Amino acid sequence: MHQEDDVRGGTMPAAVTLIHNTSDQSLPESAAEEGVMETVEAVEQVLCEQGRSVFRLPLTAPLSAAALTLERLSKGSLVFNLFEGFPGDPSSEVQVGLLLKALALRATGCPPVAMHLGLHKPLAKRLLSAEGVPTAAGLHVRRIEEVPESLPFPFPVFLKPAVNDASHGIGPSSVVQDRASLIERLDDLLDRFPQGVLVESFLAGRELNCSVVETAEGPHPLPPSLVDYSALSPGYPPVLTFEAKWAPESPVYQQTPTLCPAPVEPELSNRVQQLAVLSYRALGCRGYARVDLREDGEGSLCVLEVNPNPDLAPSAGLAKQARAEGWDYAHLVSTILGSAEKGEPWTFE
Ligand SMILES: Nc1ncnc2c1ncn2[C@@H]1O[C@H](COP(=O)(O)OP(=O)(O)OP(=O)(O)O)[C@@H](O)[C@H]1O
Ligand SMILES: [Mg+2]
Repeated sequence: MHQEDDVRGGTMPAAVTLIHNTSDQSLPESAAEEGVMETVEAVEQVLCEQGRSVFRLPLTAPLSAAALTLERLSKGSLVFNLFEGFPGDPSSEVQVGLLLKALALRATGCPPVAMHLGLHKPLAKRLLSAEGVPTAAGLHVRRIEEVPESLPFPFPVFLKPAVNDASHGIGPSSVVQDRASLIERLDDLLDRFPQGVLVESFLAGRELNCSVVETAEGPHPLPPSLVDYSALSPGYPPVLTFEAKWAPESPVYQQTPTLCPAPVEPELSNRVQQLAVLSYRALGCRGYARVDLREDGEGSLCVLEVNPNPDLAPSAGLAKQARAEGWDYAHLVSTILGSAEKGEPWTFE
């Protein structure tokens, strides 16, 4: 339907506009957004090898400038969305999603509502719980005065920005052992993250993640990965801090490898995949998403969060999980593009 006639009377695949952010190295924690260029190059190469014309379209702040850039695309254009937000402004990812929808562009990945829920952890937890997906007991704190005399769950607890992603604001001191440290940490975090902090019961068990990719048959869970914390020094908490996730030169990055497929019992792996698909549907994801999970101290699995449009770099978890399924990178990229090209326009399911 959207293919163009070529001179020989056959058809040529539709051109692809690849939108992405640019980095701002002056900002703290910009490493999370910088990695996108590796993905842009890899996706472009795959699509060119498949005979597509690919146009790169970097989006720069402010949003009004991005809107003018996107408005120049003709209605129905096929967009590969690698935009992860302007550095320091995670909600701009959602706003660009809304623009894509308003301009009737066909874009890869999740619709803006799912992107918003991916950022807004307290809202996502409510939707997950309503669908029977277990999550950690938690409390959304916007002001120190909201902290009750006694928490509805025991210490240790875990603190993370309530509305954010990419491990921003997560460090070794996110694990809190007592009330005095809780108040002290909250004071600092609430200054930096005015939308509040999610205080959660600390899940002490194993950490896994599972990507889900939309195929012609529906959402397809890939083999899960396990985060291996066994090499960390005893004082460092077994969690994926910003450094462990985004600073390849740091010892904690090297001490937290991700093993794929996860070396766990098949029952656990199946349960992870089942919860990943349930979570994907609960948040109205499309195209691809990665679901992060953790066991509590008794071995019960909880979903930590859903990442719509996760890192698609060839070296990242999603591509690793695809390889474990027997999909090469080209197959992963064309499956993601295919569901945008053939699928229905974005709706909230
Ligand atoms: N309740 C919890 N108990 C134990 N560890 C937790 C808990 N919540 C989060 N973590 C740890 O913090 C890490 C980051 O948390 P989470 O995935 O929710 O945030 P994020 O900032 O959206 O991360 P990203 O987008 O980089 O995956 C997790 O990978 C996990 O190691
Ligand atoms: Mg996560």
